[in-house]
Amino acid sequence: MASSASRAALSSIPLFHEKLLKSNRILAVCGAGLSAASGLPTFRGAGGLWRNHNAVDLATPEAFDADPGLVWLFYAYRRHMALTAKPNPAHYSLAELARKRPGFKCLSQNVDNLHVRANHPSDQLSLLHGSLFTLKCTTCSWKDPYNIADPLCPALAPAAESNPDPTKPLPLLDPAQPLAEIRESELPHCPDCKTELQRPGVVWFGEMLDEDMLDDIEEWIEKEPVDMVLVVGTSSAVYPAAGYAERARTKGRTSVVTVNLEITEEDWGRMRKGDFGFEGDASLLLPELLRPVIGEVKGEEEELEG
Ligand code: APR
Repeated sequence: MASSASRAALSSIPLFHEKLLKSNRILAVCGAGLSAASGLPTFRGAGGLWRNHNAVDLATPEAFDADPGLVWLFYAYRRHMALTAKPNPAHYSLAELARKRPGFKCLSQNVDNLHVRANHPSDQLSLLHGSLFTLKCTTCSWKDPYNIADPLCPALAPAAESNPDPTKPLPLLDPAQPLAEIRESELPHCPDCKTELQRPGVVWFGEMLDEDMLDDIEEWIEKEPVDMVLVVGTSSAVYPAAGYAERARTKGRTSVVTVNLEITEEDWGRMRKGDFGFEGDASLLLPELLRPVIGEVKGEEEELEG
């Protein structure tokens, strides 16, 4: 367990700034907490339920096989939410850090496209779990890399509706209100093989991450020692993302920096000398933490084009 003296050092912004200014090789590992201030729910903890389903249980190939209409509605709703959300200062700060530090690489588990919309340089961004706006065939190799149609098809229109009565939950999200059954024939089909369903281009539990992307990340980590790892807004519950901070650590050199709304006693206890922990909203903390390198970030969003 960190002593109170070391706890003060672990959350010292001046000490962090000193280290940041000497850091060139920086890795970030981001999660849903980064987009929380944009109004998008996280997976674990409050907001982790969708109707009466655990959000994590809907993110499997088995759930899609069992009820593609239900799983598509869940993803159509997440597409709609992500399209209506805007990148927040945390996304813009990381994008600016990438421009200021060519040795910075951002690994994100988020599929909401907000890093891209904040103009994060694409060669310094690895989207570990894919994107809500990529469509692919469940079976053949067909892929549409960027599709922002909302709704994607008439059967998924309930996921794109605005709330008729904001004093009540959206009918789609109210488990007491039955869902209209969606037949497979009403869902988007692959334009190439014609027979199979399209699915969201995200990585579901039990599926492999893109191998070329994983190789790139390994190569980046192996190339030279890493000065700093920023672990932002993630519960670090899902691998490989959860393993990258320790994987990139060179003892005595690498500072692992946790930025999270909640840092548990256990998390503090795991931190080593030279690490940092900052508890709070990433959209407020990142601009302040990165200011010596990025200055004041305004942030202009990329235009959405369908
Ligand atoms: N600022 C910083 N951190 C925040 C904020 C915020 N405003 N709000 C929430 N958090 C933190 C929470 O304390 C939690 O530790 O963000 C974390 C979110 O954790 P998860 O919901 O587990 O999200 P994530 O780590 O991204 O999940 C990993 O699991 O379900 C899968 O594929 C999905 O990519 C996702 C993966």
